[in-house]
Amino acid sequence: MKKEKKKKVSPPPVDTPEPLSEEEIAMVKAAMAARDVDRSTLPSKDNSDSAKLRRFIKKNKIFTAACVVLSLFVVALLVLLTVVAVNRALENKVNTDDFTVIIGDETYTVKYKSAMRDDILYIDMYKIAEYAELTKTGKADNVKFTAAPDQYLRFEDESEFAVINGAMVEMEGKATVNKEVCEIPFNFLTAVLGKGNQNGLRVTLDTDTNTVKITRRMYAPDDKDVITPVEILFYSDSFNIIQSIQRVTEEEPEYEYSIDVSQYLANIDPEDAESYLVLANKQTPLGENYSPEDLIKLECRTNKTMYLRKDAANALYAMMLAMTADGITDVFVTSAYRSYSYQVGLFDKYVNNHMADGMTREEAEAAALEYSAKPGTSEHQTGLCLDFMTEDMGALDESFENTAAFRWLSENAYKYGFILRYEEDKVETTGYKYEPWHYRFVGRTAATEIYNSGLCLEEYLALN
Ligand code: DAL
Ligand code: ZN
Repeated sequence: MKKEKKKKVSPPPVDTPEPLSEEEIAMVKAAMAARDVDRSTLPSKDNSDSAKLRRFIKKNKIFTAACVVLSLFVVALLVLLTVVAVNRALENKVNTDDFTVIIGDETYTVKYKSAMRDDILYIDMYKIAEYAELTKTGKADNVKFTAAPDQYLRFEDESEFAVINGAMVEMEGKATVNKEVCEIPFNFLTAVLGKGNQNGLRVTLDTDTNTVKITRRMYAPDDKDVITPVEILFYSDSFNIIQSIQRVTEEEPEYEYSIDVSQYLANIDPEDAESYLVLANKQTPLGENYSPEDLIKLECRTNKTMYLRKDAANALYAMMLAMTADGITDVFVTSAYRSYSYQVGLFDKYVNNHMADGMTREEAEAAALEYSAKPGTSEHQTGLCLDFMTEDMGALDESFENTAAFRWLSENAYKYGFILRYEEDKVETTGYKYEPWHYRFVGRTAATEIYNSGLCLEEYLALN
C-alpha cells in the first residue's frame, strides 16, 4: 500500500526511458566498480589545531570576528596602560645629577653620592655659616653656630640630636662633624629657618635641577641709604623637643633675698657668666696645669684656710649671710679649691683605705672613683665649688641631707648662683654618687636655668 502511495505522489516521467536491459545493467555495474577508489591511498583528514581552528572559523564567522575585535581592544588597553606606567615612572624618576650649591655669589658642585646618604640630602653648615656670618665655636666634633646670643644651633658628630636655642631635637639623619665638614640633613636646615619669608637666611632646593640656593635677605630702612642683612632666627616649633632649658627671661619676677645683696650682685650675677661654666669631669679633665688666677682666701665660716675664685667667694658670703639671717648658723665650708697636687694626696688616701680593707689596687681605684675624682679631673680644681658640713656631723656624708642648711640650700642656692652638682638621679651623667654637700658656682642665670629645668651641668652645657 505504501509503495503504491509513493508511486502515486512521484511526478510522472515526462519521457520515460526504456528500462535497461540486463546486459546494459551489467555494463553500468562494471563501470561503477572500475571507478571504486582504494580509500587507504587517500590523504588522512588534517586534525591539527590550526586546521581545526580554520574549520571552526569557517563555520563560526561572527563569533570569530567578535573575538578578533575583543583581542584588539585588550591589546590597545595594554599598550595604553604601559604608556601611562612608563610616563609615571619617568615623572617619579629620581634626579641623580650632582648637586649645584649656590651660596650668595659662589657656586660649587657636590657629587650626588656624597650629598645623598640613605635617601637624605645633606648640606655642609661650615660654608653656610661663613656666608651667613654665624659665629662658629665649640670643638672639632661638637660645633655651635650662633647668629645672636639666644639664636644658635649645635651639632655633634655621629649624633641625630641637634640643639636649637637650648632645645634638643631629633634630625632625620646623623650629623657628620669634623674639622673639614659639618654635614646636616638639608630638611633640618629648612625647618629650623621656619615657614614664611621673614628669615634673614633663605634656603631653597630645585629638585628638577638639583640646585640648592642659599641667599640672605637684605633690609633697607626708608630713612637710610644703608642696606643691612635681616636678622637670622632659628625656630624649634616644627620639632619634637626632647629636652630643653627654660630660659630666664626679663619678664620673670625679681629674685627674693633674705638680706640686701646689692653689694654682691655683680658677683652673684657676673657679666662674663660664660667663664663660670667650666666643666670638669671624668670625660673632660682640666689637666695637671689648670689653676684659676683669681682665687681669694675665704672670709666666712670654714674649718681651715681655703680659697675660691673671687666671684664664687663673694656669692658664697652673700649666701651664708642669708642663711644666718634665716637662722641657720651651724653650717661651715669644709673643702673649696683643691690644687692638682692636693687631689693626688686625697685620691691616694681613699685608694689606700680601700686596699687596707682587702681590695686590690684596681678594685680600690674603681671604688674610690665612685665618689672621688682622679687628680686633674676634680671640679674642686676649678675654684668654683665647695663642700658644706654642719657642726653636728662627724664626717662629710649623706646625713647633710637631713639638715636645715640642706633644706635651705635646696630652695635658695640658685639665687646666689650655686647649684647642687651631684644629684641622686644624675649619677650616670655626672659619674659620681649623690653628694648633698657639694655646691658649684655657675652664676645666677645658669643656676636658675639649671634649677628650673632639672638638668645637671653636663646636660645644661650640652644644650648651650
Ligand atoms: N667628690 C668630688 C667628685 C671630687 O672629688 O671632685
Ligand atoms: Zn666636693
